[in-house]
Amino acid sequence: KEAKLWGGRFEDGVTDAVERFTESISYDKQLYKHDIMGSKAHATMLAHQGLMSVSDRDRIIEGLDEIERRIENGKFNWRTDREDVHMNIEAALTDIIGEPAKKLHTARSRNDQVLTDFRLWCRDAIDNMITRIKNLQASLVHLSLKNEGLIVPGYTHLQRAQPVLLQHLLLAYVEELERDAGRLADCRARMNFCPLGACALAGTGLPIDRFMTSDALGFTAPLRNSIDAVSDRDFVLEFLSANAITAVHLSRLGEEWVLWASEEFGFITPSDSVSTGSSIMPQKKNPDPMELVRGKSARVIGDLVTLLTLCKGLPHAYNRDLQEDKEPVFDSVKTILGMLEVSAEFSQNITFNQERLQKALPAGHLDATTLADYLVKKAIPFRTSHDIVGRAVALCVSKKCQLQDLSLDELRSISTAFDEDVYEFLGVENAINKFSSYGSTGSACVASELNYWVTKLEIR
Ligand code: ARG
Repeated sequence: KEAKLWGGRFEDGVTDAVERFTESISYDKQLYKHDIMGSKAHATMLAHQGLMSVSDRDRIIEGLDEIERRIENGKFNWRTDREDVHMNIEAALTDIIGEPAKKLHTARSRNDQVLTDFRLWCRDAIDNMITRIKNLQASLVHLSLKNEGLIVPGYTHLQRAQPVLLQHLLLAYVEELERDAGRLADCRARMNFCPLGACALAGTGLPIDRFMTSDALGFTAPLRNSIDAVSDRDFVLEFLSANAITAVHLSRLGEEWVLWASEEFGFITPSDSVSTGSSIMPQKKNPDPMELVRGKSARVIGDLVTLLTLCKGLPHAYNRDLQEDKEPVFDSVKTILGMLEVSAEFSQNITFNQERLQKALPAGHLDATTLADYLVKKAIPFRTSHDIVGRAVALCVSKKCQLQDLSLDELRSISTAFDEDVYEFLGVENAINKFSSYGSTGSACVASELNYWVTKLEIR
């Protein structure tokens, strides 16, 4: 067996079970690019500070390039006995270039190294996520543009409430996603500080330049406190919180579309390309992708809870527990990237069933609140007009008809404030046209809302 990089004070090696249990190479190899990037910046700084010769630096950088090539060509031998990505790469570097490799870990610990890698990895992940969020927003805006003027029932308590433009509902998701992207951007800015040079926990007496490595790696500045630098994972907690919120938003989109694709609603038809069938029921066509978007949100929430629980009560500074921080982050990012991608594809592959919606809309007295506002315009106090319209609705329920079917005499038998012009307020089309407050579902408001997003997202 090969001696461990840390093996000097040990007489015996670890048992196989301990080796299997403590390794992280099986998943942290994903950090290789960022580990190599960090090592190059570190070696460059060490040479600049006179802690290594320029020729050693050059051999280290060449060796790291060679390792990166081998990894990318699938020719790198990842070894469990070398524990993690950091020691795999350092030991391989020693295999390839020999003695100069032994200078690379000067004024560095795996504790600051792993966090440098991880922050760089998360930074890239956030950039990818923001791109995917924008893409989903764009898909929803396209869907809005395709369905101009389409009215859908708006619900509260999942009971019919007021008519809304489909565009208005779709743009509600676009707003939520914008805040999701904003949370990630905020998190990225707070995350972008460099732990490298904090070493194990206390820093070093060697003349390193932490500002140089921080700059080289695109960080805003080095972290101010070496203990904080190696102990805290709040940047991950914040990242996973943002992901969990995004996942919750996507689960609501998933639920809405699953519901709308049902025979009972029948508002949308997903195309075959985003549907799946049943192994027993020949007639089935299921919206599985959006069900899984709904379902996978559980994992993303779970990943956050795992991390919160992991960090709770940990003493300063580094504890090996913290090695457990990576898998939930990898899982969260992979899951949510998939959720965003599939949600965008699904929205590009549904059609709204205009006929069905047309038939469905009259039910539920969606224009009742608009009618109450009509009476307010006739100087009736709102609470009174609410009561009057309530009685008109009760009449409709007993007659099994809509508000617009009531005659003027019938309406006037409830309140003499009703006039001939009342019919301009009844029916969903009329009702939609009456909305005019800022941010409302009125056609003009929605048109300017849509315009805002078309410009902001640079659509078309
Ligand atoms: N693989 C370890 C982790 O992810 C690297 C740091 C290990 N440090 C240590 N002192 N054992 O946390």
